Amino acid sequence: MKRIILASVAVLFGIGAVAAQQDLVNQSKTLMKSNGKNLGGVLSPMVKGEKPYDQAAVSAALAQLDDTAKKLPTLYPDSVKGAKADGDYSPSPKIWESKSDFDAKIASFAKAVTEAKAQVKDLDSLKVNLPTIGKACSGCHETFRVKNS
Ligand code: HEC
Repeated sequence: MKRIILASVAVLFGIGAVAAQQDLVNQSKTLMKSNGKNLGGVLSPMVKGEKPYDQAAVSAALAQLDDTAKKLPTLYPDSVKGAKADGDYSPSPKIWESKSDFDAKIASFAKAVTEAKAQVKDLDSLKVNLPTIGKACSGCHETFRVKNS
């Protein structure tokens, strides 16, 4: 009887851990999707002249990126290692193998966003700042994001 109870407890904990892991993966994925929408649907089209410059939209987009930068350090604890996200991309195991490099990528992304929040006041300053943010996105993806097969 005791053994059965212990086994059930282990199963319950196991399920709890998997659910928590999936929850974190979903959170990072949701943030990343918003990042993608803000860059591809709001900021880049303004820089390309496809949409008029709109300070309120720029500020909202930068606030969302800032929120991502603040949450990223909490979204990849050891328990998430090996998790696969639905959709096209998953976190690479390299995140946990080179944690300090990954943290450095988060820091440079956070810095680019903080600078943009302080500096972007018009189209010209957006044009100066957006490439730095874009490089921080792809700089992390190159190493730490893998395409689902
Ligand atoms: C510090 C690392 C890091 C930074 C910075 C980063 N990403 Fe990501 N991104 C990831 C990882 C890891 C994934 C894989 C899925 C996951 O973990 O959410 C991902 C996935 C994505 C996806 C795919 C989401 C899906 O539908 O599967 C998009 C789109 C994306 N990122 C956009 C961006 C944009 C745009 C920026 C910059 C504004 C950015 N990311 C900054 C690490 C990063």
